[in-house]
Amino acid sequence: MCGIVGVVSDKDINEKLYNGLANLEYRGYDSVGMCFINGSGIDIKKGVGKLHEVNSKINFLGMPGKVGLGHCRWSTHGGVTEENAHPHIDCTSRISVVHNGIIENYSELKEELEKKGHKFCSQTDTEVIAHLIEESMKDGKIEDAVITALNKIEGSYALGVLYSEEPDKLIGARNESPLILGIGENENFIASDVPSILSYTNKIIYLEDKEIAVLTKDNFKVLDLNGNVKTKEIHLINWSAEAAEKGGYEHFMLKEIHEQPVAIANTLNERLRKGEVKFEKEFGLSDDYLKKIKRIVIVACGTSWHAGLVGKFMLEELAKIPTDVEYASEFRYRHPLLDKDTLVIAISQSGETADTLAALKEAKKLGAMTLAVCNVMGSSITRISDGVIYTRAGPEIGVASTKAFTTQLCVLYLLTILLSKLRNTLSQEQINGMITGIRKIPLQLQSVLDEDDEILKCAELYYKKPNSLYLGRGVNFPIALEGALKLKEVSYIHAEGYPAAEMKHGPIALIDNSMPVVFIAPQDIYTYKKVLGNIEEVKARGGIIISVVTEGDAEIPKKSEHTIFIPKTMYTLSSILSVVPLQLLAYHIAVKLGRDVDRPRNLAKSVVVE
Ligand code: AGP
Repeated sequence: MCGIVGVVSDKDINEKLYNGLANLEYRGYDSVGMCFINGSGIDIKKGVGKLHEVNSKINFLGMPGKVGLGHCRWSTHGGVTEENAHPHIDCTSRISVVHNGIIENYSELKEELEKKGHKFCSQTDTEVIAHLIEESMKDGKIEDAVITALNKIEGSYALGVLYSEEPDKLIGARNESPLILGIGENENFIASDVPSILSYTNKIIYLEDKEIAVLTKDNFKVLDLNGNVKTKEIHLINWSAEAAEKGGYEHFMLKEIHEQPVAIANTLNERLRKGEVKFEKEFGLSDDYLKKIKRIVIVACGTSWHAGLVGKFMLEELAKIPTDVEYASEFRYRHPLLDKDTLVIAISQSGETADTLAALKEAKKLGAMTLAVCNVMGSSITRISDGVIYTRAGPEIGVASTKAFTTQLCVLYLLTILLSKLRNTLSQEQINGMITGIRKIPLQLQSVLDEDDEILKCAELYYKKPNSLYLGRGVNFPIALEGALKLKEVSYIHAEGYPAAEMKHGPIALIDNSMPVVFIAPQDIYTYKKVLGNIEEVKARGGIIISVVTEGDAEIPKKSEHTIFIPKTMYTLSSILSVVPLQLLAYHIAVKLGRDVDRPRNLAKSVVVE
């Protein structure tokens, strides 16, 4: 779970590598390094800490060079030390390697290489690759040696390689970890993601597993691991580089929370027709198939899994399709029962989460049809699924997912409308009502954002509390889970999400007059009255009540220390509005505590390792 960027150019590239890494730091930020080919060899500088901290000590920006690699690390093998930071080199210091992924057979390879006299300087799995390439170097070219080495490697990798004897070449390779090529004017790039190089080119090639790329400043070729040349399509990306910048906000997380009305409007755009929903050609699933589905299984991790739980409510209540929601990491190892009448939906912001990708592969192997709900075009998950619905949230850089979540909910709602219509589970009038409901969401969401002052007040009062509980029922139970996850990940405060009625089966013992309890309780015909009872139970034990309720609610505010109001909407849509105050609450608490909001400790944006 590291970030890689590499450039081969006719000009000095240190600023491009630096900026590329600055955009990739969300992938890992425990150490950082760069290397450049110079006249006589390879210059390497690296250190422990974030990019700007290390740069202030060793000045990456002062390193000259026209061919180079940069890497930001999230450690897997070997502690956070300067020796373990990338790039790594071979014994001759002529080959340098940066890597993202895990080499599973690295200890066997290391033992063999040590027997042959190779000396290792780090505890990483990556260093094995540099020595293996050195060992494979006959009289041929660097790409031949890389291919020979990769044929001996088991595991996942995105790689950047430089060889000082062929100073005009930059090599990239991928297997189960993302790597793209950027095609520029007299310069070419490799990178872990599109935004990191989007200021320099919007012409992108997606490498497939077990492909290697050989780039010079004015040319590129892609080979498979047998050395055969592959034809690749160049994709034009229409995100702007500015979209990936902070745009005046103090943090990406805050910017992305505020972008939600626009992100949702974009996600709905051109998909809502008169009385129906229509997805683009990537959707790929026929009406006939959709009418026949017997069951849906949603696989995802983290916040995307919470979106899946809300999706279950929509799909079961409205489209009447039995739906299970599984943690991708559990699903892949438990022999699930699937067949061609089961649609497996993988939800992922990044499209690169290793567990979700593996679950999807398992589902395909077992004969299910697969659909990705994803935010990143051309990502691994979208390329192996039978169909894709893109969330159009734009680049999400903050490690805590916000706008990706609410756009995922919108996509699941649109899918529910489509299925309900095809399967005649709702009348046209009901469908029209659903369409009218979601069309209002961007504006309604803006009015929730306007309540930020009250949310900030809560944050100021309670940011020192070491624990908190988030309680909701029905479609707002997953929102309680999501609110608690947001608080945990950005503020490091312990928080639990629970179905409100389950509280009395245990967590109620935690409640005293120092426990903030956040109730997500929009009015509904199902459980509102019951939640009111749960609030009384907490109040009787002295708990501090913060509630998220529907505008006009006169009951719950009387019993709460703080109330945030959300506009009136349909039951299933209330989840899109009620999560926003919880995102803001977590954000403000984290800022008050001085946390690194966009790059919380121990986390990475895309978890591309198991
Ligand atoms: C969300 O705030 C988290 N950082 C994390 O749970 C995330 O949702 C999870 O890792 C899944 O990522 P994906 O959507 O890119 O697959």
